[in-house]
Amino acid sequence: MSKVDIIVSVRGLNKAFEARNVLKDVYIDFPRGKITSIIGQSGIGKSVLFKTIIGIMTPDSGSIIVDSEDITALPEREKRRIRKRFGYAFQDAALFDSMTVAENISFPLREVLGMKDKKEMRRIVREKLEWIDLPGIENKYPSELSGGMRKRVGVARTLAVEPDILLFDEPTTGLDPVLGANINALIKRVNEEFGITCIVISHDIIGTFKIADKIAFLADGTIKAAGTPAEVAQAEHPILKQFLQNSFTNLEVASPGETEMAG
Ligand SMILES: Nc1ncnc2c1ncn2[C@@H]1O[C@H](COP(=O)(O)OP(=O)(O)O)[C@@H](O)[C@H]1O
Ligand SMILES: [Mg+2]
Repeated sequence: MSKVDIIVSVRGLNKAFEARNVLKDVYIDFPRGKITSIIGQSGIGKSVLFKTIIGIMTPDSGSIIVDSEDITALPEREKRRIRKRFGYAFQDAALFDSMTVAENISFPLREVLGMKDKKEMRRIVREKLEWIDLPGIENKYPSELSGGMRKRVGVARTLAVEPDILLFDEPTTGLDPVLGANINALIKRVNEEFGITCIVISHDIIGTFKIADKIAFLADGTIKAAGTPAEVAQAEHPILKQFLQNSFTNLEVASPGETEMAG
């Protein structure tokens, strides 16, 4: 990559919990309008990195630059202004079971954007449901949907606020390979049709190598390798090689997860 337009830049990030330094001087740039994936072993600090980027966890030191503004240094009000540019789905991003699909999708509209116009909210919900090819399910409850449908509604919910930057923490967790591939394809569509910068944390190595423009490997608190999928696949880094090898081996013995059946 030559001169790249960077939308988010993480610089020298540190985060410790009691005695454990989880993030140790993490540097990573996220190119604008591209899909960047962060991979690494379970428990290594991917979700901690995710939470510091979206601003719900405060780093011990370091900066997160969003379009040349260091959001870690901003007062709370200003942070909120920047956060409106982010859409995100947590690991195991469950929908709220007690809310209908429409209420779930309009939740960030009310909570993040402070929207009050019910008619406008209904319009946005309808538009997003059409976009994920699930029109007309506004009044259904999550328990009435299949696992794959719930994940798609989760994607629709992240899109509701029309973000510039979308972050997903393990979006394909708990899905079988086919449904996982559907979600990856949906993320690719989000990126291509709307030009939204996507940051995807994943242990779904095959899917990641298919959709990502850039991959960063997190191990022992720092980014050990970063580049295009081809570059990362060929990187001469022992821990990375081991990780990739294990991921492919695990895949062969993995049992099928949830299937596309409602209820
Ligand atoms: N709020 C917290 N308090 C204490 N320890 C935490 C907290 N959040 C994460 N950790 C620890 O940080 C490490 C990294 O966790 P996490 O980022 O969730 O890993 P993963 O790479 O699987 O997403 C783990 O050892 C975890 O126990
Ligand atoms: Mg995690």
